Amino acid sequence: MTQKTFELVDQSNDRKMTLPVRAGTIGPSVVDIAKLNKELGVFTYDPGFGMTAATESRITYIDGDAGVLLYRGYPVEQLAEKSTFMEVAYLLLHSELPTRKQLDEFIGNIRHHTMINESLLRFFHGFHYDAHPMAMVSAVIASMSAFYHDSMDIYNPRHREIFAHRIIAKIATIAAAAHKHSLGQPHVYPRNDLDYCSNLLHMLYAVPCEPYEIDPVAAQALDLLFILHADHEQNASTSTVRLAGSTGANPYAAVAAGVSALWGPAHGGANEAVLSMLEQIGTVDNIPKFLAQAKDKSSHVRLMGFGHRVYKNFDPRAKIIRETCHKVLSRLGRSDNPLFELALRLEEIALKDEYFVARKLYPNVDFYSGIIYSAIGIPRSMFTVMFAIARTVGWVAHWQEMIGDPAMRIGRPRQLYTGPARREYTSIAKRA
Ligand code: CMC
Repeated sequence: MTQKTFELVDQSNDRKMTLPVRAGTIGPSVVDIAKLNKELGVFTYDPGFGMTAATESRITYIDGDAGVLLYRGYPVEQLAEKSTFMEVAYLLLHSELPTRKQLDEFIGNIRHHTMINESLLRFFHGFHYDAHPMAMVSAVIASMSAFYHDSMDIYNPRHREIFAHRIIAKIATIAAAAHKHSLGQPHVYPRNDLDYCSNLLHMLYAVPCEPYEIDPVAAQALDLLFILHADHEQNASTSTVRLAGSTGANPYAAVAAGVSALWGPAHGGANEAVLSMLEQIGTVDNIPKFLAQAKDKSSHVRLMGFGHRVYKNFDPRAKIIRETCHKVLSRLGRSDNPLFELALRLEEIALKDEYFVARKLYPNVDFYSGIIYSAIGIPRSMFTVMFAIARTVGWVAHWQEMIGDPAMRIGRPRQLYTGPARREYTSIAKRA
């Protein structure tokens, strides 16, 4: 079969060039423009990178039109039903599902790293009690760059592996410590006899003066949400981790950059924004008024938890989370949750509205996740932190993939310059 190519014609200079097309395993092929500037003297223009594949990757596949999400080829629905967050973490990092022995060893490695240095714990005292936990988490993760000098050679695969275990283990401890700092309660040390999510709940909710009983419904719900949030190919925060990491920066600094990118309401911050929006709407009667604002471009209001750069049919994660919401609320005896009722009605009305239909805007992963987090007692300011804990696995998998690739280059986008052309400096006395 002949290799597919594209021909690009520069009519003004009567020049042309043949662009090779590269095919992936599944999904659209890409036109390789690496030699474009050398041959035709131009760059491409793609604000928001909507059309640009910045890398080749073997980790996650999304078909936005069909609502398909695969981790290393496995459908997210199957993983959500049958797997666990730790097994999914292993899969994303190591490309294959683990044997029992490999999984036990992996979990053991993560448990081995759950504690954080006492000096790091003291960093939290530098924050006021009302600091947003995302600010504390990103700062403390960046500070980890200053600690583990024994395993900082990014070109050493064993060092990269130790980093992966450390950050996946410690981000849960750091997140819980940020929460405890906000409450003015003492830090709770990890319990290595517990699974990842039960331990997180223990560190978030236990207090020294009374026993804390972990609710298995909450631990299971958290584990499922973490599976669904674990990776999402080249999203803004993962691309940030890749870009920061491509400079050869310390991986903790790269992950801290990812946490900052995730924070925004257009990305991971949407889960927090959805709950604020639902509270602001208040009752079903107010939905039409709110939707009118969300459709009005001059208002800067958006229907949070709706729309996605890639999904133009449905977000498979949102479907699973909506069902889980029903189950979790009924198992916790809170089926009459008014915010969930409101969210269901809001979704129903928006999905019939011409504005959202025409733009293919559907509920995304963040539309219902906050309701589950709330039901299991996680405060709103911690929602995006929860997302960050899960996405750390994806960030690390992408960073590992990039650093392990001998063809890695520093990420460096181009621009179309529209500022002043060259002009001569005039001394201040001569300026009008
Ligand atoms: N409410 C109202 N209008 C919207 C919304 C929304 N939530 N999302 C997109 N639109 C409109 C937008 O105004 C534009 O209209 P027009 O064509 O008339 O100018 C059109 O739909 C296309 O939107 P866009 O902003 O060009 O799309 P994008 O791919 O750049 O942005 C998005 C995707 C997720 C940032 C956006 O849909 C959004 O802001 N959604 C709300 C925030 C949100 O829920 N974010 C979580 C995303 S999923 C989890 C994650 O990534 O972390």
